[in-house]
Parts: sequence; structure tokens; C-alpha cells
Amino acid sequence: MKVIRTAPEMRAWSFEQRRQGRSIGFVPTMGALHEGHASLMRAAAERDDARVVSIFLNPAQFAPTEDLDRYPRTFDADKAIAEATGMEAIYAPTGSGMYPEGYATYVNVDHVSEGLCGASRPTFFRGVATVVAKLFNAVLPHRAYFGQKDAQQCAVIKRMVRDLDMDIEIVEMPIVRDPDGLAMSSRNAYLSAADRTRALALSRSLFAAQAMMEAGERDAGVLLAAVREGMADIDIDYVELVDGDDFDPVDRVAGTVVLAVAARVGETRLIDNIKYTVPAKA
Ligand code: PAJ
Repeated sequence: MKVIRTAPEMRAWSFEQRRQGRSIGFVPTMGALHEGHASLMRAAAERDDARVVSIFLNPAQFAPTEDLDRYPRTFDADKAIAEATGMEAIYAPTGSGMYPEGYATYVNVDHVSEGLCGASRPTFFRGVATVVAKLFNAVLPHRAYFGQKDAQQCAVIKRMVRDLDMDIEIVEMPIVRDPDGLAMSSRNAYLSAADRTRALALSRSLFAAQAMMEAGERDAGVLLAAVREGMADIDIDYVELVDGDDFDPVDRVAGTVVLAVAARVGETRLIDNIKYTVPAKA
């Protein structure tokens, strides 16, 4: 397993892979790897010849009040998981390498990044888009793998890639859940046993709303009220039904929609969502 620390070294590795005619699959992460990350790495290992995972805890996407300091750092365990899932290289740049003194350039993806998580975390998607653009410039992937767990992040990255003419295919992979339904997240490590049980309100409410959509419910108001009711015991940040492409709120279920929630359970902010596509008429 090669551990690469600088963008020039990373590019040299990737140029060599491309010279050999190998496709490069890339999984960007912030470390504290779990089964959700592993599913992305396995997907890359299945499709691509050369496989890179990045591990970089990106300060630009954390507000000063957020959990950057206590975010789990587990590099040795991460390395073992990366190895086991078929990665060939870990790109783990340093903070000062990524953001040197005088750093001044940011990527803003308007509109799609403004609601939901963008409303509660105003500089979050600017930090995400900026770091992902920088990682893409170092790794030079053919394909990059992201999780639907962060559905709005996927929409932001897809829009950035399209708007900035980046020749990279974005592959969105399904949410990996614990057996009881809780979406896997590095932040689940913060939850006490009691809070973990309370956290099940997110997935339980989403699954109930999904069943309502499958049974024909199309009214956003009815669906949102049911989800809010199911999450009444936790501190809701947002419950929204949005269009699957531009993340604009919708009144009715049509085409592909995302039902997305965020809530604070104890000190921990959790997100979850389901995607639903209205079946084509036979
Ligand atoms: P991180 O939270 O480490 O997540 C890395 C990737 O793993 C993201 O694409 C995320 O959606 C995916 N992922 C996390 N939990 C998942 C789950 N339960 N099922 C499926 N996929 C899951 O997202 C980030 O890091 C950062 O914002 C990053 C893109 C690396 C930029 O810093």
C-alpha cells in the first residue's frame, strides 16, 4: 500500500497509471472508515484498474463551532480497511500542503448547495467543493465514488464536475445501514447507547414515508408531517422533500425526489435520506 502525501507525487503516480492504460477509481474520505466507505472502495475495486482512497480531515468544511477537534482519527485501522478492500494507494495530504499560507481560492456551487445542509452549515459545501476539486486535480481519476448518504453533497459534486468541465464520472452508491436501519456514519461513534436508540427515529420515519409513497401518497405536506411526527422526540434541524437533481423543495412527489432529514441527537448531528422514483406508467 502506497501512502502519498503531496499533490505532485500523487499526480506522478496517476500519470504513470494512465500511461499504462489503467483506469483510475477514486474514493474521497475524511477517514474513520466504516462499511459505508468500504462499499465505495469495493465498487471502485470492481470497476477500476488503479484504486486510490484519500484520507483528509478537511478543516474548510467545518465551522469553528463544529466537531473538527473531536472527529475520530484512526489512520492505522483505515489503512488496513483500505488494503482489504483493494485500494492501491492512500492519498493523505497534510493540512499545510492543502491550504498553504495565503490560500485564497474557493469553489462555490450556487443554488443546489443553498438549502438543507447548506442552510444550517453556510460554508460547508464551499469547503467540500473546494477540497474535492483539489483532490481531483491531484488524483486525476476517471471515476469518483460518493455515497447517497450525503445526497446533497453528491448533487453539488455532480454540478461542479459538469459546470467546470471536469472529465470525471461521478458514481453514486446506496446508503449502507446497520441491521437496525441506522445509516452508518463516522459520527455514530459519538452516540451513547441511549442516544443511538433515539437516533433510529431518523431511518424509521423515512422508511414509513417511503411506504406511504409506495402506497401512492404524493402530497409533500402529508409526508413531511408524518416524518416530523416520527422524529418528535429528537431535535429536528430540517425535514425536506426536494427534487433529486437541483434539490429545490417540491410540493408533490414526481419524477425522482429525495426525502432528507437532519437532527441533533445529544451533541451529535445526524443526516439521512431516501430517494424515491415514481414508477413509469405501464
Ligand atoms: P466522509 O464523511 O468520510 O464520507 C466519504 C464518502 O463516504 C462520502 O461519499 C459519503 O457519502 C460516503 N459514506 C459515508 N457514510 C456512508 C454510508 N453509510 N453509506 C454509503 N456511503 C457512505 O463526505 C465526506 O467524507 C467529505 O465531505 C469529502 C467528500 C471526503 C470531502 O472532504
